Amino acid sequence: MRAFRGSFLHCLANPADAGVEAASYVADGILLTEDGHVVSLTQASKASVPADCPVQDLTGKLLVPGFVDTHVHYPQVDVIASYGTQLLEWLETYTFPREQHFEDRATAEQTAAFFLDELMRNGTTTALVFGTVHKTSVDAFFTEAQQRRLRMICGKVLMDRNAPDALCDTPETAYTDSKELIKQWHNKERLGYAVTPRFAPTSSNEQLQKAGLLLKEYPDVHLHTHLSENMAECDWVASLFPDQLDYLSVYEHFGLVRKRSVFAHSIHLSHSEWNRLHKADAAVAHCPTSNLFIGSGLFDLRAAQKAGVKVGLGTDIGGGDSFSLLRTINEAYKIQQLQGVSLNPLQSFYMATLGGATALDLDSHIGNFEPGKECDFVALDPNATELLSRRTAVAEDWQSTLFALMMLGDDRCIYDTFIMGESSKLTL
Ligand code: GUN
Ligand code: ZN
Repeated sequence: MRAFRGSFLHCLANPADAGVEAASYVADGILLTEDGHVVSLTQASKASVPADCPVQDLTGKLLVPGFVDTHVHYPQVDVIASYGTQLLEWLETYTFPREQHFEDRATAEQTAAFFLDELMRNGTTTALVFGTVHKTSVDAFFTEAQQRRLRMICGKVLMDRNAPDALCDTPETAYTDSKELIKQWHNKERLGYAVTPRFAPTSSNEQLQKAGLLLKEYPDVHLHTHLSENMAECDWVASLFPDQLDYLSVYEHFGLVRKRSVFAHSIHLSHSEWNRLHKADAAVAHCPTSNLFIGSGLFDLRAAQKAGVKVGLGTDIGGGDSFSLLRTINEAYKIQQLQGVSLNPLQSFYMATLGGATALDLDSHIGNFEPGKECDFVALDPNATELLSRRTAVAEDWQSTLFALMMLGDDRCIYDTFIMGESSKLTL
């Protein structure tokens, strides 16, 4: 058993439904853990800690559940901060050339190791991750994630057209490679598999059909793809699939829209598409840093909430320009401001924690400090910089401290990241 003392904040429900009651704040609390799982979170004055149980004193830090990144590409670490293009040109110019290196096992291992350490350094403990088309890219990723005891979901990219030959598989190899990876890695310890067609333009009908077949055979794997990110992309999809009503119906047609399906971006959607996503119990990943960096558009959070669609946050590295969920929340706030909405800090905190876990259908394992959950958490330092220290000193309540951390914070605020109750300070 281990215990941790500090200030705790977590969500027990969606603030969009439950308001401020969705959150629980314990100014001076003790988190008791056993074998990496939560036993209890109580006020320090009422806690009973076994005599032989060590208590780590994190007083002055804000302890929150580990952040959940619901859309990110590990092979794009070296594409981050590439100048001057929007989506389709960005893919051709920077991304496709870089992804070709992941046929090489050593490149994949080294990049996955860097990527996972960088996530932890930023307080992210779970992510839904794109590999490349190469089977070895996913094998290397899972190997590194397993070593770090992280809860991670990843998948081999499926793409058999409109991409360089070196990055194309076939419907058949897409199916057999994915199947082998599922058998080897899905539900192994904390790891899960996602069937990952890149996006509609890079898969043939035959390949999308194979993706649907995999979901039928393995109903508890995830489906991870992109949807309605950029106007030129949307026009291209309309011309490639003239028989389909809209972008989402391409995926629906092949049985890809259901619970555990996660659609990155989802910017240019109709009311009908939002309602169908809700009906199917699918989720979207909002990626504000990426949407601004490659100029894709402004995500309509109100429409998502009105339709009752689950929304997580994604960094979308390398379209996005930061690993930090705090930076991501900062940009999400500004995207809503531009649409006349002031995004409530508790709502964005929810999206980065329990909401992200719910979007991935992992909320029975992670997302808050409820007894029995896996004990991944982050110690945030409200005094990490002089400016933050000055601003949080005049914060009148925990909501103001939280908002200041989210607007001014980044990896410098991550004092430590705990995986299954163990500090990662020593390993990073
Ligand atoms: N659409 C298809 N592929 C990609 C990708 O790698 N990144 C982003 N942001 N959008 C995509
Ligand atoms: Zn992406």
